[in-house]
Amino acid sequence: MSFEYAPAPESRAVVSIKPKYGHFIGGKFVAGSKHFPTINPATEEVLSQVALAGKAEVDAAVKAARKAYTATWSKMSGKERGKYLYRIARIMQERAREFAVLETLDNGKPIRESRDTDIPLAAAHFFYHAGWADKLEYAGLGTSPKPLGVAGQIIPWNFPLLMLAWKVAPALAAGNTVVLKPAESTPLTALLFAEVCQQAELPAGVVNILTGDGSTGALIVNHPGIDKIAFTGSTEVGKIIARAVAPTKKSVTLELGGKAANIVFDDAPIDETVEGIVNGIFFNQGHVCCAGSRLLLQENVAEEVLHKLKSRMEKIRVGDPMDKNTDVGAINSKEQLGKIIELAAAGDAEGAERWSPACELPGKGFWFAPTIFTGVTQAHRIAREEIFGPVLSVLTFRTPQEAIEKANNTPFGLSAGIWSEKGSRTLWASQQLRAGVIWANTFNKFDPTSPFGGYKESGWGREGGRHGLSAYLKGVSHE
Ligand code: NAI
Ligand code: MG
Repeated sequence: MSFEYAPAPESRAVVSIKPKYGHFIGGKFVAGSKHFPTINPATEEVLSQVALAGKAEVDAAVKAARKAYTATWSKMSGKERGKYLYRIARIMQERAREFAVLETLDNGKPIRESRDTDIPLAAAHFFYHAGWADKLEYAGLGTSPKPLGVAGQIIPWNFPLLMLAWKVAPALAAGNTVVLKPAESTPLTALLFAEVCQQAELPAGVVNILTGDGSTGALIVNHPGIDKIAFTGSTEVGKIIARAVAPTKKSVTLELGGKAANIVFDDAPIDETVEGIVNGIFFNQGHVCCAGSRLLLQENVAEEVLHKLKSRMEKIRVGDPMDKNTDVGAINSKEQLGKIIELAAAGDAEGAERWSPACELPGKGFWFAPTIFTGVTQAHRIAREEIFGPVLSVLTFRTPQEAIEKANNTPFGLSAGIWSEKGSRTLWASQQLRAGVIWANTFNKFDPTSPFGGYKESGWGREGGRHGLSAYLKGVSHE
């Protein structure tokens, strides 16, 4: 028996979006010169006009950050810095609903995910790092660890507030000040975070937020007044940044793309595995660098897994991100939708078989039905390139060794999943896999205490945990 869900829309009354925003520099909002729109990708409604920072604004923000670093933040005791971080974390919790609604409107992700994952995890990062601020000398990173100075931080659109938290919390805990640039399609929660910094009475200039596009990002990367660059985004831009900072003294961490293998051995508990596969690739519309986008099935269970996966996918609810029952929301931008359509078409052209459940997509906005491709070989583009959308490529293997070879046959190495009932097999496989994060019998689990980062073209350095802290301190090995 099936039954219809009644609409369960979250109210947007809790947020108040200004028609126009400036930059947050030296503790104040300052008017921008040029502006560009940010839209709701589920409806194409223009939400606001945000400012595009150029050279003058980047100079002003770096200057404010340097002043705050020298005069205030680097002189303050860890205990005092920790108090500000706790205060920020608590305000984020108090305003969690506001953040969740704003994130969903600006990004297109389901309210269930922004409410239950993005915002609580963002607050957790501030709580966790608040705890480290006065204990840095006990972190095993030297007896008197010192901050790097001013950090330039550039973040993507897939987890806007969460990526801000991954960057800002460890930087501040370690005693650095920051100039952060959110992605052009999702700037609004970073601007709300600027209000939280004011509300927490964070000393002026410790956090500066500039909105803008890649040109603003490049100005930050190349600014001589910056000591460290932290970037999350495409491998392509990551390589540009690596080249730009190579001849300088800047430290750098890069969190780039992925093409994770999710490996299902024939002794895996099938029903739980199917849930994990769905979560691995359809969470956040597949806009996840560590998404389980390559499913590797052991041949003798492939048919059963695919059958159960398809019946599970029939029940996925795609549509209004503000509806509390929605599982898959809107694709973040027209450009990203174009990329997904292009790569899926390459899957068709190269001979893979496409399948999607019956689902009605809204007429306005950017949408892509959850899709799986079977009959995928390692040579196919959809097995090699990051699609960054709700598209799963299914491959098969006969022996565990073959699974490992296929899993590692990628320029990336961010994450992997292993499904098996045998602990010995899981441990063996996890030692063979060249991936920074490996989940066993689960997927997409995140925690501030756990380091996250990749091998090969997936990036440099780690974020989270003690390892992440080390990337904001002087003279500490970053790998
Ligand atoms: P992108 O790498 O261009 O954008 C990420 C951030 O970098 C944004 O804030 C952007 O303004 C900034 N940026 C762009 N060019 C820059 C430059 N030259 N110097 C400094 N900063 C710069 O990613 P985009 O175009 O939004 O997405 C393209 C593809 O990248 C996606 O299809 C996906 O495959 C991948 N991607 C991966 C992410 C991850 O979490 N690993 C996040 C976002 C995208
Ligand atoms: Mg937007």
